[in-house]
Amino acid sequence: MPRRTAKSTASKSTAFSSVLVPKVTSKRFYGHGLPRCDVHALNGKLVVVEGADGSGRSTQIARLVEWLEACGHHTVQVGLKRSTLVSEELELAQQGNILSRTTLSLFYATDFADQLENTILPALRSGSIVLADRYIYTLMARDLVRGMDESWLRNLYGIALEPDAVFYLEVRPEMLVQRVCAKNQALDYWESGLDLGLSRDMFDSFLKYQGLMRDTFRRLQRVYGFQIVDGQQAPNALSEDLKRKMEHVLRGS
Ligand SMILES: Nc1ncnc2c1ncn2[C@@H]1O[C@H](COP(=O)(O)OP(=O)(O)OP(=O)(O)O)[C@@H](O)[C@H]1O
Ligand SMILES: [Mg+2]
Repeated sequence: MPRRTAKSTASKSTAFSSVLVPKVTSKRFYGHGLPRCDVHALNGKLVVVEGADGSGRSTQIARLVEWLEACGHHTVQVGLKRSTLVSEELELAQQGNILSRTTLSLFYATDFADQLENTILPALRSGSIVLADRYIYTLMARDLVRGMDESWLRNLYGIALEPDAVFYLEVRPEMLVQRVCAKNQALDYWESGLDLGLSRDMFDSFLKYQGLMRDTFRRLQRVYGFQIVDGQQAPNALSEDLKRKMEHVLRGS
């Protein structure tokens, strides 16, 4: 076995000297938060990429992860319906379309809480950069469009940690429909808002529903102050834009 020499140790430290160590900034929950969580121990960064179906979230998160990891950062990814606790049951319940709006909402909140407690907070404690493919804003917007009470939702999601940054990729519904059809050759029942009875025509329903979602996101943006990013830019221009914004997050500026 080759022994590590002083030279190899030195060159290793030089190689890593250019890593931008994320500046630790204070964190807080939106409301009551989770019990027994010391926010001062959360050294990592939580960055959320929000946007409609087909807005380019997966594409951009994959590029950010590749770039961050190449820069020496450890990343962790989370997203909706990815909890080990209830994601499978939630998927089944949605296929059957048997739950009331409130029950479905609470199911999603459970999925979120499980990931917060068991993935997001431990990763932040260990100094990782957590990239969230959607967060509480999509969940709130979906419920608000369906007429649920805003103060009830705000209280429910008072458990959520305030992210270091939220990038909302805004794309016109007419462009979304083209992207989703090109990618999946079909529109999704829920993402077309078919449960709302906006139109009998699925395309028309998708356009109307996504228009309502965009209006609701703009309203939430004024409350939560996240960054609206032009998701209609070419993928490379958009990634450069997001990398610049991410650098600010790492510097704590
Ligand atoms: N900036 C862009 N310009 C044009 N097309 C794009 C852009 N970004 C992504 N796409 C394309 O749009 C489609 C949807 O992209 P992607 O899967 O990244 O979106 P998403 O928001 O993760 O969607 P989903 O809600 O289905 O998870 C893909 O076919 C992708 O290649
Ligand atoms: Mg995706």
